Amino acid sequence: MRMYDLITKKKHGEELTDAEIAFWIKGFTTGEIPDYQVSALLMAICLKGLNERETATLTMEMARSGDMLDLSAIHGKKADKHSTGGVGDKTTLVVAPVVASLGVPVAKMSGRGLGHTGGTIDKLESIPGFATTVPADLFIKNVNEMKLAVAGQSANLAPADKKLYALRDVTATVDNLSLIASSIMSKKLAAGADVIVLDVKTGSGAFMKSFEDSCALAETMVRIGNNCGRKTYAVITDMNQVLGTAVGNWTEVEEAIAVLHGKGDPELTYVCETLASFMLVGCGIAKDREEAVCMVRKAIADGSAFRKLCELVERQGGDASYIEHPEKMPKASFSLDVKAETAGYVASVNAEEVGMAALLLGAGRERKEDAVDPLVGLSVYKKVGDFVAKGDVIGTLYANRKEALSAARERFLAAYKFSANAVPAVVPVYGYVDEKGYHALS
Ligand code: URA
Repeated sequence: MRMYDLITKKKHGEELTDAEIAFWIKGFTTGEIPDYQVSALLMAICLKGLNERETATLTMEMARSGDMLDLSAIHGKKADKHSTGGVGDKTTLVVAPVVASLGVPVAKMSGRGLGHTGGTIDKLESIPGFATTVPADLFIKNVNEMKLAVAGQSANLAPADKKLYALRDVTATVDNLSLIASSIMSKKLAAGADVIVLDVKTGSGAFMKSFEDSCALAETMVRIGNNCGRKTYAVITDMNQVLGTAVGNWTEVEEAIAVLHGKGDPELTYVCETLASFMLVGCGIAKDREEAVCMVRKAIADGSAFRKLCELVERQGGDASYIEHPEKMPKASFSLDVKAETAGYVASVNAEEVGMAALLLGAGRERKEDAVDPLVGLSVYKKVGDFVAKGDVIGTLYANRKEALSAARERFLAAYKFSANAVPAVVPVYGYVDEKGYHALS
């Protein structure tokens, strides 16, 4: 078999056989197939597509390219959640302790931020002492004893995806439905959970900008998950503006703490409740979503979900006094209020631009080897539909390098579009996909 022939076939829009996909992924993982040939194939895939069978085969080959985690030593049905990547998306920091406090084992492998999107591991590492590298036996022990552990993705989890993603990132081949679906699902399948809840973002800050594309991605991933024996749901949530009000690392942990105290942003709280409810139903802890949402609200109201976050932080070496008293965390050295230069109703807030403003402040990374600053970021005060008078403060930027503020301010302001006419607020959750297809919510 020759890689050259696979590239030629795909260039002409022909299907690749299962054996050809296995040949490509194995050869690429071992380094026998060079990057330039894989880049050519990836571009042909972007132009000609992969069908459902090819996508499923690619997913399984990438999942099997490294360790398939065996979570059988953890009692009960294990749940996992995954977001396709957003701005201000701190839902894992809320959802994981909520469902763990209700008895669902969560053995969570999370990633770091890249580009305009943040990552749970960077956020958790903003808590002094918190270790995101956890030996496998301790990881399992923690989940068995306290139902929750969160660690960085181990080096040998779907290594083919890691290599492929790095190549896609520099060859303009990220935004293909089949490549995104197989990338995400290969890691989820390898991570071993029985129940997978996917948060598929749609809108300006998401990989998938249109609702139709997001739905198609959700349906593909749900089919792959269910066909592999994992109960899989995808919730389609909005990314036409920042989720909640905080973007950064520690600032997002702070906002998650507020949600766990029942004092969080209502839209963020609603998204978290929705995601958690599918995890509870999928694991059989709640009989339906209505019951699940009641359980979630009770876990927040009685403080058990907040205590679970403190327990997680302590178990993984962190100083939980920062979770109990977030006000004791030092502030970034500089801050700047951003004022509206025009009056009107907020018509849109380009989440990708806001994410880029946070990156310029030092909260994100352009290349994966870059470091992030845990204390910098921004707050967003005005959302789609809000009326803003000229001079109103629409956000605040926090930086440790004063010179970062002005470029970030430009980017932040450019994210806002105003309208003279009233604009309806954005719906935070559109609907969900299960094995029967799409169902609208709200
Ligand atoms: N997240 C992933 O893990 N992979 C993609 O391709 C896109 C988003």
